[in-house]
Amino acid sequence: MSDASREFECSLNQWMESISSATSIGELEKIRAGLLGKSGAITSEFRALAKLSIEEKKIIGERLNIAKNAIEEAISEQIKKIKRSIIEERLRSEVVDITLPSVSDSFGSLHILTQAMRRIRDHYHARGFLVLDGPEIETDFFNFDALNIPKHHPARQSHDTFYIDGFDDVLLRTHTSCVQIRTMQKTGIPVRMISIGKTYRNDKLDSTHSPMFHQIEGLVVDREGLTIGHLKSELKKFISAFFETEDVAIRLRPSYFPFTEPGVEIDCRYKKEGGRLRITGDGTDWLELGGAGMVHPNVFKHCGIEGPAYGFAFGFGLERLVALRTGISDIRNIYETDVRTLRYLNNIR
Ligand code: DAH
Repeated sequence: MSDASREFECSLNQWMESISSATSIGELEKIRAGLLGKSGAITSEFRALAKLSIEEKKIIGERLNIAKNAIEEAISEQIKKIKRSIIEERLRSEVVDITLPSVSDSFGSLHILTQAMRRIRDHYHARGFLVLDGPEIETDFFNFDALNIPKHHPARQSHDTFYIDGFDDVLLRTHTSCVQIRTMQKTGIPVRMISIGKTYRNDKLDSTHSPMFHQIEGLVVDREGLTIGHLKSELKKFISAFFETEDVAIRLRPSYFPFTEPGVEIDCRYKKEGGRLRITGDGTDWLELGGAGMVHPNVFKHCGIEGPAYGFAFGFGLERLVALRTGISDIRNIYETDVRTLRYLNNIR
């Protein structure tokens, strides 16, 4: 071995040693720059090859390449080692003692939809309504026929329905109005009830649609004495309670639902403030919040109710109400599982 190559071996050993004793990634980057950077020791050696004979170039060039690869490998190994020890150190120092009592602000909370459902339920409980559930897998009869939407009725087209494979009359309910039918069939009248639950439509998920969403359904029926005036008053009380303001103005705009006569759209005055909608009685614009109407006589017939019967029904989309209350413009945020989003929604609820 020549003196020059012995010297090179010796420096290589020193370099390798400094690599393996480096304790930080920054230190390693410095070593890398000192050896392989533009004016690094190895780079200069490569540059010096130009002055050598072909024979020497071959021998020394090969030696330099081997050294360069060894250095690069040693550096990346050492970086891995350092990263591993950082993680191990964190695991050691950030260990959580699960036997310790929890800190109060680390408690979880109910989901924003659950909170809204509970508030709505409490409001109607206090007003003497039954709070009932119905099945999410329904038959054609409860979802459509009994609600005065017979086969081939155009209203069926606006409900993009998921049918259960292998059945042509079993489906995922497209609205909670089916619970009206189940309730009247079972308990007859008079009845005051609401139902809150999941509904399904074959819609693409976007900022205002979701294939699964929630609805609130209300029904008030008696033998006599219920008018559209009672409907309006009941709706106003609900909107006041949900948005926690007495300052509410609503209007009922003529509309059409096969299960109501007349049918109305529920609009509410609002103002835009700082990019956010606020429900307020002196708002200049109207916002649609839900549908309602006086129960259609055919619906009573399908429920087997005989004799005089009068009443009203209403339906709201829960996500829309929650979005308005929290000021979010994309309902997908409501379904997100990122704890930061959930916390944010929770804080502005
Ligand atoms: N079921 C309707 C829908 O999904 C909402 C609705 C409108 C419910 C009018 C009602 C009603 O009870 O009377 O769009």
